[in-house]
Amino acid sequence: MELPTARDVERAARLLSGVVGTSPLQRSARLSALTGLDVWLKREDLQEVRSYKGRGAYNLVAGLTAEEQQRGVTCASAGNHAQGVAFACARLGVRATIFLPRTTPRQKRARIAALGGPLVEVVVDGDTYDDANRLCQELAAATGAAVVPAFDDRRTIAGQGTVALEVLAQLGRAPDVVVAPVGGGGLLAGMVTLLADRAPDVRVVGVEPAGAASMTAALAAGRPVELDSVDSFVDGAAVRRVGDWTHAVLDRHRPRMVTVPEGLVCVEMLELYQSDGIIAEPAGALAPAALRDTAAGPVAAPGATVVCVLSGGNNDVSRYAEVVERALVHEGLRHYFLVEFPQEPGALRMFLDEVLGRDDDIVLFEYVKRSNRETGPALVGIELQRPTDYGPLLERMTGSGIRVQVVEPTSPLFRMVQ
Ligand SMILES: Cc1ncc(COP(=O)(O)O)c(C=O)c1O
Repeated sequence: MELPTARDVERAARLLSGVVGTSPLQRSARLSALTGLDVWLKREDLQEVRSYKGRGAYNLVAGLTAEEQQRGVTCASAGNHAQGVAFACARLGVRATIFLPRTTPRQKRARIAALGGPLVEVVVDGDTYDDANRLCQELAAATGAAVVPAFDDRRTIAGQGTVALEVLAQLGRAPDVVVAPVGGGGLLAGMVTLLADRAPDVRVVGVEPAGAASMTAALAAGRPVELDSVDSFVDGAAVRRVGDWTHAVLDRHRPRMVTVPEGLVCVEMLELYQSDGIIAEPAGALAPAALRDTAAGPVAAPGATVVCVLSGGNNDVSRYAEVVERALVHEGLRHYFLVEFPQEPGALRMFLDEVLGRDDDIVLFEYVKRSNRETGPALVGIELQRPTDYGPLLERMTGSGIRVQVVEPTSPLFRMVQ
């Protein structure tokens, strides 16, 4: 396996020049103040395809021979990679067949079709990404179309690595630390390839969502392994098994890997939106979220210059309700309970008067009165002003004599309200 080199990344940069724009590198006053670091955001959300994915896709398709381009290309993707391939093929005049699982939101299908134009056929089929990928492989075998992998290919990796080249040029010096999100590992593998050669003192940190830490698992096992379960919330980075190429590159360079809980990603997505006016998708907010807190400790020493890749901004507006919910739960501000109300007049009033604190707010109340029973369970959601209000609330619940059960975030009932 001949791993990609810094020269491959530089060659990719020449191919991309004038096609994929140089995204802005902006200092984040908010994150700098919050962390005591000198934080810069590499705004890949501002690309035409609203993520860095056009880089790898364009590098791969542009590098095919004329004969290969004539046969067309194919890929399977539920998201940003499909947009990257559609964009690249439209620019290069290459036909593409893009397979999307039926779960792909309408807005994303429309965007892929719009970017690709008449040369790109979008086929929506199969229930999962794996189904779509099988169809893509079948088409490639039958027609000779070239498959464009989302991460597990040295040309894709080299294209994504151009982000690092731009960072060095824009900052005018090497940062102390570069933080990048990891799904299949294409972006991190490309960046680490370039940095290890051109700026070897830069420490590189890869960030995975806690519910899909497949690269951390692969590096520990010495080979890509399949995770038993994956939390798909951070959709761009929720990968069950990383690639052979990406694993091999990261195994050679051994960047530091950290995980971030999904709730913290939501907290950062909301800060980006409300304080900075930046729309980030969950995978896009992974790297900045890692600056706030990781179980493994801070990503850099105080005062260090840190560049975070804000990798994508394709967030469906309908997701914000879930993002707000997960953020509040993560911050200890929203809690759910099953409350056994005695079926007698005044029980609810007593709960409101004696259990609920002055600043506590009921955000959910599901209750059906049944006159043939002594108690009736209600599902109650309570939002607090401060996380420290939780202990006193629990104490008042216990003291009231009403039976109350905490709905734990891991329970199936909890997932119904999220
Ligand atoms: C916005 C965004 N960030 C990060 C990733 C992770 O990608 P990689 O496979 O390059 O690690 C993806 C993948 O789709 C993505 O769309």
